[in-house]
Amino acid sequence: MRLARCVQQWILLNTLILLPWVSCNKLDTIPDSGEDLPRLGARRSVSFREDVHHEEDGEGLVRPLYRQRVPPISSTTSVNRDFYFPGPTTRRRVTTVPTGSNPDFYFDYLRDESRQPGRSSGAGRDRPRAAAGGTEFSYNEKDKNGPTNWYRIAPQCGGRYQSPIMLNTSSAMYVRNKRPLQLVGQTNLPQAIRLQNDGHSAKFTYVWNEGDRPYIRGGPLKTKYFFEQFHFHWGSNDTLGSEHVLDYHRFPMELHLVFYNGLYSSFEDARNEVDGLVVVGMFYEIYDRFNEQLNTWTRFLQEVITPESTFTIQFIDTFPLYEVIGDVEWPYFSYEGSLTTPPCLETVTWIVSAKPLLITAKEIREFRRIRTRSGGLMMNNFRPVQKLYNRRVFRY
Ligand SMILES: *[C@@H]1O[C@H](CO)[C@@H](O)[C@H](O)[C@H]1NC(C)=O
Repeated sequence: MRLARCVQQWILLNTLILLPWVSCNKLDTIPDSGEDLPRLGARRSVSFREDVHHEEDGEGLVRPLYRQRVPPISSTTSVNRDFYFPGPTTRRRVTTVPTGSNPDFYFDYLRDESRQPGRSSGAGRDRPRAAAGGTEFSYNEKDKNGPTNWYRIAPQCGGRYQSPIMLNTSSAMYVRNKRPLQLVGQTNLPQAIRLQNDGHSAKFTYVWNEGDRPYIRGGPLKTKYFFEQFHFHWGSNDTLGSEHVLDYHRFPMELHLVFYNGLYSSFEDARNEVDGLVVVGMFYEIYDRFNEQLNTWTRFLQEVITPESTFTIQFIDTFPLYEVIGDVEWPYFSYEGSLTTPPCLETVTWIVSAKPLLITAKEIREFRRIRTRSGGLMMNNFRPVQKLYNRRVFRY
Protein backbone atom coordinates (compact mmCIF):
# COMPACT_ATOMS: atom_id res chain seq x y z
CA MET A 1 0.00 0.00 0.00
CA ARG A 2 2.61 2.38 1.09
CA LEU A 3 4.78 1.57 -1.87
CA ALA A 4 1.89 2.18 -4.28
CA ARG A 5 1.26 5.61 -2.79
CA CYS A 6 4.89 6.43 -3.00
CA VAL A 7 5.05 5.51 -6.66
CA GLN A 8 1.96 7.57 -7.33
CA GLN A 9 3.52 10.58 -5.72
CA TRP A 10 6.69 10.06 -7.62
CA ILE A 11 4.82 10.08 -10.90
CA LEU A 12 2.92 13.20 -9.92
CA LEU A 13 6.13 14.94 -8.96
CA ASN A 14 7.71 14.09 -12.27
CA THR A 15 4.76 15.40 -14.17
CA LEU A 16 5.00 18.66 -12.30
CA ILE A 17 8.68 18.96 -13.13
CA LEU A 18 8.25 18.00 -16.74
CA LEU A 19 5.37 20.32 -17.52
CA PRO A 20 7.24 23.60 -17.16
CA TRP A 21 10.22 22.04 -18.87
CA VAL A 22 8.14 21.21 -21.91
CA SER A 23 6.66 24.66 -22.15
CA CYS A 24 10.02 26.34 -21.65
CA ASN A 25 11.49 24.23 -24.33
CA LYS A 26 9.18 25.80 -26.86
CA LEU A 27 10.83 29.14 -26.26
CA ASP A 28 13.92 27.83 -27.94
CA THR A 29 12.05 27.30 -31.13
CA ILE A 30 11.39 30.98 -31.67
CA PRO A 31 12.83 31.56 -35.10
CA ASP A 32 15.99 33.55 -35.45
CA SER A 33 14.90 36.52 -37.49
CA GLY A 34 18.19 36.65 -39.31
CA GLU A 35 16.85 37.84 -42.62
CA ASP A 36 15.61 41.02 -41.05
CA LEU A 37 19.04 42.08 -39.99
CA PRO A 38 21.29 43.85 -42.42
CA ARG A 39 24.81 42.75 -41.74
CA LEU A 40 28.14 44.48 -41.57
CA GLY A 41 30.80 41.89 -42.05
CA ALA A 42 30.65 38.64 -40.16
CA ARG A 43 27.86 38.37 -37.69
CA ARG A 44 27.45 36.60 -34.47
CA SER A 45 24.38 34.65 -33.69
CA VAL A 46 21.59 36.65 -32.16
CA SER A 47 19.73 33.78 -30.61
CA PHE A 48 20.15 33.90 -26.90
CA ARG A 49 18.81 31.29 -24.56
CA GLU A 50 18.44 32.73 -21.11
CA ASP A 51 18.79 36.06 -22.77
CA VAL A 52 15.98 35.89 -25.26
CA HIS A 53 13.73 38.57 -24.01
CA HIS A 54 10.33 39.19 -25.34
CA GLU A 55 8.02 42.03 -25.57
CA GLU A 56 4.29 41.97 -25.86
CA ASP A 57 3.07 44.07 -28.65
CA GLY A 58 -0.38 45.60 -28.79
CA GLU A 59 -2.12 42.42 -29.88
CA GLY A 60 -0.61 40.40 -27.11
CA LEU A 61 1.75 38.68 -29.51
CA VAL A 62 5.17 37.97 -28.20
CA ARG A 63 8.10 38.85 -30.37
CA PRO A 64 11.82 38.95 -29.76
CA LEU A 65 13.10 42.45 -29.03
CA TYR A 66 15.97 42.39 -31.42
CA ARG A 67 13.62 42.52 -34.35
CA GLN A 68 12.91 46.15 -33.87
CA ARG A 69 16.35 47.42 -33.26
CA VAL A 70 17.99 47.53 -36.65
CA PRO A 71 17.23 50.43 -38.95
CA PRO A 72 18.09 50.42 -42.63
CA ILE A 73 21.73 50.90 -43.46
CA SER A 74 22.93 52.87 -46.42
CA SER A 75 24.83 51.19 -49.19
CA THR A 76 28.03 52.98 -48.18
CA THR A 77 28.34 50.69 -45.18
CA SER A 78 29.69 47.92 -47.33
CA VAL A 79 32.69 49.92 -48.47
CA ASN A 80 35.08 48.36 -46.04
CA ARG A 81 34.26 45.14 -44.27
CA ASP A 82 37.00 45.57 -41.72
CA PHE A 83 35.36 48.53 -40.11
CA TYR A 84 32.02 49.34 -38.69
CA PHE A 85 30.37 52.54 -39.21
CA PRO A 86 26.85 53.33 -38.45
CA GLY A 87 24.33 54.01 -41.11
CA PRO A 88 21.64 56.64 -41.02
CA THR A 89 18.52 55.81 -39.12
CA THR A 90 14.94 56.55 -39.79
CA ARG A 91 13.07 58.85 -37.52
CA ARG A 92 10.14 57.15 -35.96
CA ARG A 93 8.28 59.58 -33.82
CA VAL A 94 7.61 63.24 -33.47
CA THR A 95 7.14 65.03 -30.21
CA THR A 96 7.63 68.55 -29.05
CA VAL A 97 10.86 69.72 -27.58
CA PRO A 98 10.99 69.43 -23.81
CA THR A 99 11.68 72.15 -21.34
CA GLY A 100 14.81 70.24 -20.43
CA SER A 101 15.26 68.64 -17.04
CA ASN A 102 18.16 66.30 -17.27
CA PRO A 103 20.74 67.18 -14.64
CA ASP A 104 24.11 67.87 -16.08
CA PHE A 105 26.76 65.52 -14.83
CA TYR A 106 30.36 66.47 -14.58
CA PHE A 107 33.30 64.29 -13.83
CA ASP A 108 35.39 67.11 -12.47
CA TYR A 109 34.02 67.22 -9.00
CA LEU A 110 35.73 70.48 -8.20
CA ARG A 111 33.26 72.16 -10.45
CA ASP A 112 30.18 70.61 -8.96
CA GLU A 113 28.50 73.97 -8.67
CA SER A 114 28.00 73.77 -12.39
CA ARG A 115 25.61 70.88 -11.98
CA GLN A 116 22.53 72.84 -12.72
CA PRO A 117 19.29 71.66 -14.17
CA GLY A 118 19.23 71.46 -17.93
CA ARG A 119 18.87 74.52 -20.02
CA SER A 120 15.60 75.89 -21.12
CA SER A 121 14.26 74.87 -24.46
CA GLY A 122 15.71 77.90 -26.19
CA ALA A 123 17.50 77.06 -29.36
CA GLY A 124 21.04 77.88 -30.21
CA ARG A 125 24.09 78.70 -28.22
CA ASP A 126 23.83 79.45 -24.56
CA ARG A 127 25.97 82.08 -22.95
CA PRO A 128 29.30 80.77 -21.71
CA ARG A 129 29.32 80.22 -18.00
CA ALA A 130 31.76 82.15 -15.90
CA ALA A 131 34.92 80.15 -15.39
CA ALA A 132 34.68 78.16 -12.20
CA GLY A 133 37.19 78.69 -9.46
CA GLY A 134 39.21 75.94 -7.82
CA THR A 135 41.96 73.75 -9.10
CA GLU A 136 41.76 72.71 -12.72
CA PHE A 137 43.46 69.59 -13.95
CA SER A 138 45.59 69.79 -17.05
CA TYR A 139 46.71 67.29 -19.67
CA ASN A 140 50.04 69.01 -20.02
CA GLU A 141 52.76 67.16 -18.16
CA LYS A 142 54.64 70.42 -17.70
CA ASP A 143 51.81 72.04 -15.73
CA LYS A 144 51.75 71.68 -11.99
CA ASN A 145 48.30 70.13 -12.36
CA GLY A 146 49.42 67.77 -15.11
CA PRO A 147 48.54 64.06 -15.13
CA THR A 148 51.28 62.88 -12.76
CA ASN A 149 50.01 65.33 -10.15
CA TRP A 150 46.32 64.62 -10.50
CA TYR A 151 46.46 62.61 -7.28
CA ARG A 152 47.06 65.90 -5.47
CA ILE A 153 43.72 67.14 -6.71
CA ALA A 154 41.97 63.79 -6.28
CA PRO A 155 43.70 61.03 -4.28
CA GLN A 156 42.07 58.19 -6.23
CA CYS A 157 44.03 59.25 -9.32
CA GLY A 158 47.01 57.63 -7.59
CA GLY A 159 45.23 54.30 -7.09
CA ARG A 160 45.93 50.85 -8.45
CA TYR A 161 42.85 50.50 -10.62
CA GLN A 162 43.40 53.43 -12.92
CA SER A 163 42.56 53.91 -16.58
CA PRO A 164 43.48 54.02 -19.39
CA ILE A 165 45.87 51.09 -19.83
CA MET A 166 47.70 49.31 -22.59
CA LEU A 167 45.59 46.54 -24.02
CA ASN A 168 47.25 43.73 -25.78
CA THR A 169 45.65 40.88 -27.46
CA SER A 170 48.23 38.25 -26.61
CA SER A 171 48.23 38.76 -22.87
CA ALA A 172 44.50 39.22 -22.31
CA MET A 173 42.56 36.25 -21.01
CA TYR A 174 40.22 34.98 -23.65
CA VAL A 175 36.66 34.38 -22.45
CA ARG A 176 35.09 31.42 -24.16
CA ASN A 177 31.60 31.23 -22.76
CA LYS A 178 30.37 34.68 -23.39
CA ARG A 179 26.94 36.11 -23.21
CA PRO A 180 26.26 38.57 -26.02
CA LEU A 181 26.62 42.23 -25.22
CA GLN A 182 23.41 44.09 -26.03
CA LEU A 183 22.60 47.75 -26.26
CA VAL A 184 18.86 47.86 -25.80
CA GLY A 185 17.15 50.97 -27.15
CA GLN A 186 20.02 51.92 -29.40
CA THR A 187 17.64 53.32 -32.01
CA ASN A 188 15.56 55.28 -29.52
CA LEU A 189 15.48 59.01 -30.09
CA PRO A 190 15.83 61.42 -27.19
CA GLN A 191 13.78 64.57 -26.65
CA ALA A 192 16.88 66.64 -27.19
CA ILE A 193 20.65 66.40 -26.87
CA ARG A 194 22.72 68.79 -24.85
CA LEU A 195 26.19 69.32 -26.30
CA GLN A 196 28.76 70.93 -24.05
CA ASN A 197 32.29 72.12 -24.18
CA ASP A 198 33.15 71.41 -20.55
CA GLY A 199 36.70 72.64 -20.81
CA HIS A 200 38.17 69.15 -21.28
CA SER A 201 36.02 67.51 -23.93
CA ALA A 202 32.94 67.74 -26.09
CA LYS A 203 30.15 65.97 -24.26
CA PHE A 204 26.76 64.84 -25.57
CA THR A 205 24.12 64.33 -22.88
CA TYR A 206 20.76 63.00 -23.99
CA VAL A 207 17.43 64.05 -22.50
CA TRP A 208 15.09 61.05 -22.47
CA ASN A 209 11.41 60.48 -22.28
CA GLU A 210 10.45 58.18 -19.45
CA GLY A 211 11.39 54.62 -20.30
CA ASP A 212 13.35 55.42 -23.46
CA ARG A 213 16.82 55.57 -21.96
CA PRO A 214 18.96 52.86 -23.61
CA TYR A 215 20.82 50.35 -21.51
CA ILE A 216 23.61 47.88 -21.99
CA ARG A 217 23.74 44.35 -20.61
CA GLY A 218 25.32 40.99 -21.17
CA GLY A 219 28.99 40.26 -21.68
CA PRO A 220 30.80 40.84 -18.38
CA LEU A 221 27.87 42.74 -16.86
CA LYS A 222 25.62 41.29 -14.18
CA THR A 223 22.95 43.98 -14.34
CA LYS A 224 21.60 46.60 -16.71
CA TYR A 225 23.55 49.83 -17.09
CA PHE A 226 21.71 52.90 -18.32
CA PHE A 227 23.22 55.29 -20.83
CA GLU A 228 24.25 58.67 -19.45
CA GLN A 229 26.46 60.61 -21.89
CA PHE A 230 29.29 60.27 -24.36
CA HIS A 231 32.39 62.37 -24.94
CA PHE A 232 35.69 62.15 -26.80
CA HIS A 233 39.45 62.28 -26.44
CA TRP A 234 41.51 63.29 -29.46
CA GLY A 235 44.93 64.37 -30.65
CA SER A 236 46.54 67.28 -32.46
CA ASN A 237 47.36 64.98 -35.37
CA ASP A 238 46.40 61.48 -36.45
CA THR A 239 49.24 59.70 -34.66
CA LEU A 240 47.79 60.20 -31.20
CA GLY A 241 44.60 61.00 -29.32
CA SER A 242 43.13 57.77 -27.93
CA GLU A 243 43.46 57.03 -24.23
CA HIS A 244 43.74 53.26 -24.44
CA VAL A 245 46.55 51.82 -26.48
CA LEU A 246 45.77 48.67 -28.43
CA ASP A 247 48.72 46.41 -29.21
CA TYR A 248 51.06 49.41 -29.00
CA HIS A 249 48.90 51.37 -31.38
CA ARG A 250 47.38 54.73 -30.48
CA PHE A 251 44.37 55.87 -32.46
CA PRO A 252 43.57 59.48 -33.39
CA MET A 253 40.42 59.55 -31.26
CA GLU A 254 38.49 57.59 -28.65
CA LEU A 255 34.80 57.75 -27.80
CA HIS A 256 33.59 57.05 -24.26
CA LEU A 257 29.98 56.11 -23.67
CA VAL A 258 29.18 56.31 -19.98
CA PHE A 259 26.54 54.08 -18.37
CA TYR A 260 25.38 53.73 -14.76
CA ASN A 261 24.12 50.68 -12.94
CA GLY A 262 20.32 50.34 -12.93
CA LEU A 263 20.53 49.32 -9.28
CA TYR A 264 21.03 52.99 -8.52
CA SER A 265 18.73 55.83 -9.35
CA SER A 266 21.12 58.05 -11.25
CA PHE A 267 24.65 58.50 -12.48
CA GLU A 268 25.37 60.63 -9.44
CA ASP A 269 24.25 57.89 -7.07
CA ALA A 270 26.04 55.15 -8.97
CA ARG A 271 29.42 56.69 -9.59
CA ASN A 272 30.77 56.07 -6.09
CA GLU A 273 29.59 52.46 -5.93
CA VAL A 274 32.01 49.67 -6.67
CA ASP A 275 29.81 48.33 -9.49
CA GLY A 276 28.45 51.74 -10.35
CA LEU A 277 29.67 52.51 -13.86
CA VAL A 278 30.41 51.05 -17.25
CA VAL A 279 32.30 52.95 -19.90
CA VAL A 280 32.31 51.65 -23.45
CA GLY A 281 35.42 52.83 -25.29
CA MET A 282 35.57 52.92 -29.08
CA PHE A 283 38.56 53.90 -31.17
CA TYR A 284 38.37 55.91 -34.37
CA GLU A 285 40.44 55.44 -37.46
CA ILE A 286 40.73 58.04 -40.20
CA TYR A 287 38.79 57.12 -43.30
CA ASP A 288 40.60 58.62 -46.24
CA ARG A 289 38.86 57.24 -49.31
CA PHE A 290 36.68 60.28 -49.49
CA ASN A 291 36.14 63.32 -47.42
CA GLU A 292 32.41 63.44 -47.12
CA GLN A 293 30.42 63.25 -43.95
CA LEU A 294 30.31 59.85 -42.34
CA ASN A 295 29.26 61.11 -38.94
CA THR A 296 26.73 63.84 -39.58
CA TRP A 297 26.52 64.66 -35.87
CA THR A 298 30.03 66.19 -36.02
CA ARG A 299 28.47 69.27 -37.62
CA PHE A 300 27.26 70.37 -34.18
CA LEU A 301 30.79 70.68 -32.80
CA GLN A 302 31.20 74.15 -34.30
CA GLU A 303 28.51 75.33 -31.87
CA VAL A 304 30.69 74.66 -28.83
CA ILE A 305 34.08 75.98 -29.87
CA THR A 306 33.91 78.48 -27.02
CA PRO A 307 34.90 77.03 -23.64
CA GLU A 308 31.96 76.50 -21.26
CA SER A 309 29.46 76.78 -24.06
CA THR A 310 26.40 74.60 -24.43
CA PHE A 311 24.26 73.91 -27.44
CA THR A 312 20.89 72.22 -27.39
CA ILE A 313 20.27 69.89 -30.32
CA GLN A 314 16.53 70.05 -30.88
CA PHE A 315 14.47 66.92 -31.34
CA ILE A 316 14.26 67.27 -35.10
CA ASP A 317 18.08 67.09 -35.33
CA THR A 318 18.67 64.43 -32.69
CA PHE A 319 20.23 61.07 -33.52
CA PRO A 320 20.11 57.70 -31.75
CA LEU A 321 23.16 55.94 -30.35
CA TYR A 322 22.98 53.60 -33.30
CA GLU A 323 23.97 56.44 -35.58
CA VAL A 324 27.14 56.99 -33.55
CA ILE A 325 28.36 53.45 -32.89
CA GLY A 326 26.33 51.07 -35.05
CA ASP A 327 25.79 47.51 -33.93
CA VAL A 328 27.37 46.27 -30.72
CA GLU A 329 28.90 43.15 -32.20
CA TRP A 330 32.63 43.63 -32.03
CA PRO A 331 35.32 41.77 -30.12
CA TYR A 332 36.29 43.73 -27.02
CA PHE A 333 38.46 43.93 -23.94
CA SER A 334 37.09 44.25 -20.44
CA TYR A 335 38.80 45.14 -17.18
CA GLU A 336 38.18 46.96 -13.91
CA GLY A 337 39.36 50.54 -13.99
CA SER A 338 38.51 54.16 -13.37
CA LEU A 339 37.29 57.40 -14.83
CA THR A 340 40.15 58.86 -16.86
CA THR A 341 39.72 62.37 -15.47
CA PRO A 342 39.73 63.53 -11.84
CA PRO A 343 38.24 62.37 -9.52
CA CYS A 344 39.42 59.13 -11.23
CA LEU A 345 36.82 57.07 -9.36
CA GLU A 346 37.70 53.38 -9.46
CA THR A 347 34.16 52.23 -10.10
CA VAL A 348 34.28 51.57 -13.83
CA THR A 349 33.95 48.30 -15.69
CA TRP A 350 35.60 49.05 -19.00
CA ILE A 351 34.48 47.58 -22.28
CA VAL A 352 36.85 48.63 -25.05
CA SER A 353 36.05 47.63 -28.60
CA ALA A 354 38.87 46.18 -30.65
CA LYS A 355 37.24 47.37 -33.83
CA PRO A 356 37.65 51.02 -34.68
CA LEU A 357 34.91 53.28 -35.96
CA LEU A 358 35.63 55.57 -38.89
CA ILE A 359 35.90 59.32 -39.13
CA THR A 360 37.01 61.53 -42.00
CA ALA A 361 39.83 64.06 -41.80
CA LYS A 362 37.32 66.84 -42.24
CA GLU A 363 35.26 65.62 -39.32
CA ILE A 364 38.15 65.23 -36.92
CA ARG A 365 39.23 68.77 -37.78
CA GLU A 366 35.95 69.93 -36.26
CA PHE A 367 37.15 68.51 -32.95
CA ARG A 368 40.52 70.20 -33.23
CA ARG A 369 38.92 73.64 -33.55
CA ILE A 370 37.35 73.47 -30.08
CA ARG A 371 38.97 75.72 -27.46
CA THR A 372 39.85 75.30 -23.80
CA ARG A 373 39.42 77.74 -20.95
CA SER A 374 42.96 78.98 -21.34
CA GLY A 375 42.11 79.93 -24.89
CA GLY A 376 44.23 77.23 -26.51
CA LEU A 377 42.99 74.53 -28.83
CA MET A 378 41.46 71.53 -27.13
CA MET A 379 43.48 68.52 -28.30
CA ASN A 380 45.70 65.84 -26.84
CA ASN A 381 43.14 65.58 -24.04
CA PHE A 382 44.12 62.01 -23.24
CA ARG A 383 45.62 60.68 -20.02
CA PRO A 384 48.87 58.69 -20.17
CA VAL A 385 48.47 54.92 -19.76
CA GLN A 386 48.41 53.69 -16.18
CA LYS A 387 50.03 50.68 -14.57
CA LEU A 388 48.08 47.46 -14.61
CA TYR A 389 49.21 46.29 -11.14
CA ASN A 390 47.24 43.23 -10.09
CA ARG A 391 44.54 43.38 -12.70
CA ARG A 392 43.48 40.97 -15.36
CA VAL A 393 42.30 42.03 -18.76
CA PHE A 394 39.74 39.83 -20.46
CA ARG A 395 39.10 39.49 -24.15
CA TYR A 396 35.57 38.74 -25.35
C1 LIG B 1 51.81 64.81 -33.66
O1 LIG B 1 51.68 65.56 -32.47
C2 LIG B 1 52.61 65.22 -31.48
C3 LIG B 1 52.27 65.97 -30.24
O2 LIG B 1 51.99 67.29 -30.48
C4 LIG B 1 54.01 65.51 -31.98
O3 LIG B 1 54.95 65.18 -31.02
C5 LIG B 1 54.25 64.73 -33.23
O4 LIG B 1 55.49 65.05 -33.77
C6 LIG B 1 53.16 64.98 -34.24
N1 LIG B 1 53.35 64.07 -35.33
C7 LIG B 1 53.23 64.42 -36.58
C8 LIG B 1 53.42 63.37 -37.59
O5 LIG B 1 52.94 65.54 -36.88
